Order: sequence, then structure tokens, then C-alpha cells
Amino acid sequence: MNAIFFNRFPIVLLLVLGFGLILSCKTAKKNNTFTIGFSQCTGNDLWRRNMLAEMLTELSLHPEVDFHYLEAGGNSETQRAQVDTLIDKEIDLLVISPNEAEPLTATVKKVMDRGIPVIVIDREIKGRDYTAFIGSDNVEIGEMAGQYLSQLIGDKGRVIEIMGLLGSSPAIDRGKGFAKAINRSKGLTIAKTVYGDWMEDTTKNMLSDMHRQLASIDAIFAHNDNMALGARKILHKYYPEKHIPIIGVDACFGEGGGLDMVYDGKITASLIYPTFGKEAIRTALDILRGQPFKKENKLSSIVIDSTNVRVMKMQAAMISSQKDDIYSQRKLLDEQKIVYKSQQAVLNAIIVLLVLSLIFGSIVVILLRDNRKINKNLAKKNLEIDTQRKQLIEMSKQAAAGTEARLNFFTNITHELRTPLTLILSPIEDMAKDTRLLSLAGDKIKAVQRNSVRLLNIVNQLLDFRKIEIEGYVIQASPNNLVSFIRDLMEPFKIYALKRQVQLSFVPAEKEISVWFDLNMLDKALLNLLSNAFKFVNAGGFIKVYVERMGSDVSIKIKDSGIGMHEKDITLIFDPYYQADNAPANGFGIGLSLAKEIITKHKGQIQVESKKGLGSTFIVILPLGSQHLSDREKLTLHNPSPQRAEKTSIQEIYSDTEIQEMEQSEQWGVKEHSLLIVEDNPDLLNYLVTELSDKYDVFFTSSGPEAIRLAREKVPDLIITDNVIPELSGKEVCRTLKSDFKTSHIPIILLTAQASSEQVISGMDALVDMYITKPFLIKNLSASIRALIHNRKVLKTHFTSAIELPTESVKLSAMDRKLLNDFSSVVEENLSNDRFCVEDICRLIGISRMHLYRKIRSLTGMTVNEYLLERRLKKASYLLQHESLNVAEITYAVGFSSPSYFSTTFKAKFGYSPSQYKSKIK
Ligand code: FRU
Repeated sequence: MNAIFFNRFPIVLLLVLGFGLILSCKTAKKNNTFTIGFSQCTGNDLWRRNMLAEMLTELSLHPEVDFHYLEAGGNSETQRAQVDTLIDKEIDLLVISPNEAEPLTATVKKVMDRGIPVIVIDREIKGRDYTAFIGSDNVEIGEMAGQYLSQLIGDKGRVIEIMGLLGSSPAIDRGKGFAKAINRSKGLTIAKTVYGDWMEDTTKNMLSDMHRQLASIDAIFAHNDNMALGARKILHKYYPEKHIPIIGVDACFGEGGGLDMVYDGKITASLIYPTFGKEAIRTALDILRGQPFKKENKLSSIVIDSTNVRVMKMQAAMISSQKDDIYSQRKLLDEQKIVYKSQQAVLNAIIVLLVLSLIFGSIVVILLRDNRKINKNLAKKNLEIDTQRKQLIEMSKQAAAGTEARLNFFTNITHELRTPLTLILSPIEDMAKDTRLLSLAGDKIKAVQRNSVRLLNIVNQLLDFRKIEIEGYVIQASPNNLVSFIRDLMEPFKIYALKRQVQLSFVPAEKEISVWFDLNMLDKALLNLLSNAFKFVNAGGFIKVYVERMGSDVSIKIKDSGIGMHEKDITLIFDPYYQADNAPANGFGIGLSLAKEIITKHKGQIQVESKKGLGSTFIVILPLGSQHLSDREKLTLHNPSPQRAEKTSIQEIYSDTEIQEMEQSEQWGVKEHSLLIVEDNPDLLNYLVTELSDKYDVFFTSSGPEAIRLAREKVPDLIITDNVIPELSGKEVCRTLKSDFKTSHIPIILLTAQASSEQVISGMDALVDMYITKPFLIKNLSASIRALIHNRKVLKTHFTSAIELPTESVKLSAMDRKLLNDFSSVVEENLSNDRFCVEDICRLIGISRMHLYRKIRSLTGMTVNEYLLERRLKKASYLLQHESLNVAEITYAVGFSSPSYFSTTFKAKFGYSPSQYKSKIK
């Protein structure tokens, strides 16, 4: 895992960098943003609109600032509530133009207490608890207005002062300054002071109410231009002839503003009252950015009248157009910004794409590098595989050449065998006709003849098989009547069938069925199938041959009532190398394989239906017509028919008829030892029985289950068995007998043609005592039998506690031998059991107490208990000699209940105590 990580480390690093870059592009968008709240006391007059416009113009240069604006409509209560709203919006700084000083002082303090800086503009609050103040010196403005008036109307006259909102600081201060200036000239008096609340309409109403007083008035000072205009209108209404000076404050530029009023002559003069918007925003940003700022900022004023109003208007117009320029530039800038932003976005996207392509490029490079490595390895592996393939081809060529050479050798040898076999057969046939010789050794001559024919038949089959399978024999088919062909073929079998008491019948569906086939080859195939059927069928059984058309085919069925086959054998019987352990006598041979090859060459099929014990049916299917055959496969003048082969199978079958059924000898127990021979080849069985009957009591069988039954019943001294026998193989018989206590001691010789080392090992695994391969010499077999019986006897005496029987009891009857064998086995098995008694023995071998006593006394010369004691002491002496057990251990091993009793008994028998006996031996 680590290796993978470090291998891919560059990719991981690039990915991290890439995503870092992408993220940084995204997050660098917003920083240093400020929120400024502006609480305006009233917003519906030109002066305030100019103020707000100035602020917004300034703010347009600072896009990082969020600006929240609320106006209170000249109501102090509303303004207080609005300040709270701004606090809730989490403003960083408050700009406030308080409606009235008194009611808004606490509000400003509250904001300051929250750590939010406050800039008070235009109107003041009580005290100086704010961050900065921006306004004008309103006392000075009032004073300037008073001075201007006194210059205008001289030292004599009556003046009306129209004040702003009662509690607002400009109204208070302007009043103070005006009074100061008026008081300086002795003849001027403020005839009347009224409050117009900064508004034209209020002023008009007030003055209308007191219009009579206006008649004696020489000049009017209004605290702002709106109220001055109102005064002019009322004056004009009531006294149109009266052109007294009216002075206002603000001198706002813009349509209908103070400058226009002066210019138009509606009012006499106006004092400039700056709107502070730009200053307020600049100071706010200084505060927010922590830069130095002035706490008290008072802007000065000048008087605008007919003498300078034109210049002022021009200046104002210029400023306004500059402002417009600024706006349009600002707009341009904004557009540029948008373009810049989109370009920035495109740039970011390009950077991201670049980074990604760098990452993926690197990945591709790494993968390509890996790929190249893998390809290199693959190429190397391919090369290795190619070399190995070539080696394999070479080896298989060599193997094929070797196989071919061996097959040629095998064919040659097989050919070679034909000559000597024919040379054996001719004189033997002559001998078989000679009655003199027949009377001397008829059986043996016939056996030689029979087996020579059989051997010749096998040789011929082998050569045919070789010809068809290996050399690619091409059939020579011609159209023939299959029905008459089979009838002719079956003819010679009829006599044989009669002798064997087998019902042989031919059941053709039609008289004539024309089929293309190779006369010689089909002859061999069907003969083999018929011979095979005869091998399995018993006396009283039947073999039926059916021929019938089946659509575009013809079917030949050979049905027998024989012993049938196991399911597992059905698929294997056509395999020439298959040898079932329990194949029939003579096995399946290669006859069936040959038949199958021949049928296949005819583009036909061969099938078997069989059930164990219920017989078998071989079904041959051949195609009708000749379309399935090539020209080469058809018999023509150029392809003359070869001579028909010898009918060796028939000869073999005839020779089988000569075998004499052997009778099991009734008499046995005559000889010292007995043998059981298990062999299904009648000739070999005959031969063995004849050869061995001189010395041994011989009994025999050709079947596995019967062998087991006989072994258990007779308990022979030795068993000779073939391995390939019907139903149960020799090995299976051996395994069964060796696992049975009663028969496990019987030596078994496996007499078999299976000579490969694997077969020998599997025989040994089945616990056979000796493995003798065919062919064998009878004298060798006899010697082996003698040795095995002798060794078993020695073993019995030396390695067990068996007691030698009195010499007169050697020739025992079979029943007695079985009883003694059972008795001895049961005793041996229970020797260590100190409670083992006569009752147990009777129960285990199934005879009465009386019978047991009588038999044992007569066979051994001892009572049962004496016999038991004798066996125990004999085994004890063996154990003392051969095992490293102590006396106590031996005591219990041989079924004594106490060591002292054991010692006494042992000494009585052998003259020494067990320990003396042991030391004496050593
Ligand atoms: C505008 C205004 C001005 C005056 C100022 C005093 O609302 O009435 O005309 O100069 O307020 O605060």
C-alpha cells in the first residue's frame, strides 16, 4: 500500500495543489467589506437629496462597502427605532443626522456603547459622545446673515426671523448667531421669531396667520431657503408691492434650489450650507480602516447674492457635469470591472484547466510509463511462453515420434506372433484328432488349442484395431442386403447356442434392407458384438438380434439376457485401454472398441442399454443410402474387395464349448491344508485345481461374493484369487476378508495380469500377502503357497499364544477346524479380560456349554479353563521375551487379576518366577 502511495505521490501532490488553487480563486473574492448605516432625520428636501447623492457618489468608489439607508420623515421617535434596525443589521459604523439633539443623544450613546463608531453630521446632539462630527458653524452662519442684513438695510429696521425645528441644533445656533449680529446695530430689532420647522408649507401657514405684522417689516431671515421661499410667497400674496430683502440658508444647487432662488430674485441672498456627504463617507472609511481622522470638522460658509450667484451657478454646473463625468466614468469602470471579472473568471477557468491538464497529463505520463513497463514485462512473458510453446511442440513431436515408433514395434511384434501361433495351431489341430493322444492328454491338448485360437483372435483384433484407428483405414462400402448378411453371420452360432442352451433368434422387420457397408469390417463388428453377448449370457438365457429401418437409418439391436453391466462401466466399455476390476471372464477385450471404430467409420453410431442383472442391448445405427460416404469409401473396380478375414471369433466360441464344467469336490478335510481358488477363466481354474489338488484340499469359485462366503464358511489355510472377477474384484474380496477377525489371518495370493506398479501398490494396499503376476510357473506358485502356510504357522506359534494341537488332531474335519478357529480367535481377542469366562465363549461362537466342553476336550486334550490358562501363560512368556513391559503390566495384559497369583501360576508352569524368567532370557 505504501509503495502504491509513493509511486503515485506526484499525482497526489498535483491534485492537492490543483484543488488548492481552485479554492483560492474562489475564496479570494470578498475581504475587507464594511457595512455603514446612515440614519437621516428627513429626506424629502433638495439639500438632503444632494447630501445622499454626494454619499453615493463617494461610495461608488468603494464597492467593498455595504450601505444601509433609512430616513425618519422628521420624526425623532421614528429615527430612534430606525437606529435599532441598523444595529440589528450588524453595521460597522453609523452616520446619523439627528432630527432633534435631545431625543437622539441617548441613541448615539447606545450605539457607541456597543463599540460601533458614530459620525454625527449636520445637526448636533447634546455633549460630545460620538466618534466624529461633520457640520458647519451654525452660530457663524447666523451671525453672517445678521451682518449681511444690517449692511443691506442699514442700522434701522424691523426683522422677522423664521427659525428651523425647535429642538434641532442648527436652529438654535443660527438663532444665536443672528441675534448676536442684530444686537450689535442699535436700530435693528428682531420684531418677530417664528418656527417654520425647516419647511416651506409650515412657514407659509405661520406667516399667513400673522400677515398683518408683515406690513411693518423691513427684512426676513429664514434658517433655510425653503422657508425663505415660503416667506417670499406669503409676502407677495399680501403685499405685492413690498420688495423687502429675504435671506435664506443652504444655497443648494440643482433645480429650484437656493442658487436658483437667488438667481431668479425670489430670495435676496443665501448662505452656503455644505451637504457633508463626501466628507462623511471619507471620514467613515478612515475610522473603519483605523486611519487618523479629525473628530470635529466644521466647514465654513459664504453669502451668495446677485453679485456672485452667476459664478456659483457656473461652478455648480461644472461640478455637476464633473459629477456626471465621474458617473459615466464610474459606469465605464463598472462595465470594465464586469469585463474584468468575466475575464478573471475565464482566466481562472483557464488556470484550473491548465492545472487539471497538468495533473491529468502527469497521470497519463505516469500511466504510460507503467504501461510501458507492463508491456515490456508482457513482451518478456510472451517470449518465454513462445519459447515454452516451441519446446512443447518439439517435445510433443518427439513424443509422437516415440509413440509411432512404439506402435510400429508393437504392430510388428503382433504380426510376428501370428506365425508361431499358426504353427502351434496346425500341429495341435492334428493332435486333437489323434484319439490315442486324446485319451492320454485330451484336456490339455484341447486347452492349448482353445487358448491358441483365443490368442490368435486377440492378435487379429489388435491388428485390425491398429489398421482402423492408427493407420486411418478407409472403408470399402458396397450396397448389400443387411438382413441376409446378418442371417449368414449368425448361422455358425446356432450350434454353439444350442450347446450352451441359449435361445438365439433373429428378428428382421423386413426381408431385405439394402445398406452400404464394408462386408469385411461390418462382419468383424457384428461378430464381436455377438461373441460379447455369448460371454455374458448363461444357460437358459437368450440372445435376440433385431433389424429394422428407422427413418433414414437402419438399426441393428443385439439384446441379451446376460448379467448386464454397472452404469459406470457402460460409458467405458468402448475404451480399448479400460479394464474393469470386475469385468467378465476374458474381459471386454478390445473387440467392443474395434466394433465401435468400424461403426464410426460407417458414419454410424453404437449405443448400449444395460442394467446390472437385467441384460444388455447393443444398438448399432447405420445411415441408409450412400450420400454420407465419399467416393474413396465406396467399393469400385479400382478398389477391389479384400478377402474376408478369418472368423477367429467363431473358432474361439467353438473351442469354448469344449471346456468341461468342474465339479466342486465333496470330499475335503482329507489333506493337512486347504486352499480356496477364485478364478473365472475356466481353463486356468481347471489347471490350478488339477495342479494343486494333490497336496491340498481345494475348493473354488469364479465369483467374488461366493469367495467371501466360502472363506467364512471353510476358513481355508490360503486363498488364491484373480483380481478381475465378476461382481467383486479380488482386491475387494481381500479387503473384506482382512477386515473380518475370523478370516483376517488367512494369507491371500493375488494372481493377476495387472502388472503395473500402481496396480501392484493398490493390491498391497488391499492387504494381499503376495502379488503374483500372470504368466506364472506353477512350481513358483506352489512354493509361494508352501512358504505362506508355513510362515503363518510359525507366526501363530511364536507371536501369539496359540497352542499347538496334539498331532492326532491335525486331520480335523472342516466343522471342527472352523470351531477350533472360532474358539481360538475369541480367546485371543479376550485374553486381557480377567472376567472372560466359558459363558462368554459360548455366546460369542454360538454353541452350548456342553458342546464346547466336549469339543475342546477332544480337540485339545484340555478343559476350556486349562486351555485359557495355558494361552495366558504362553502369551505372558512371549511378552516377557519380546516386550519391555514390567511384570504388573504383563499380569493385566494376559488377564490375571493380581501379580502374585500370576507369579505363582507362572512359576508352577515354567519353574521360574516371571522376573527370573525375564532376566534369564536376557
Ligand atoms: C434640510 C435642512 C436645511 C438646513 C438643515 C439644518 O433638511 O432644513 O435646509 O440647513 O436642514 O439641519
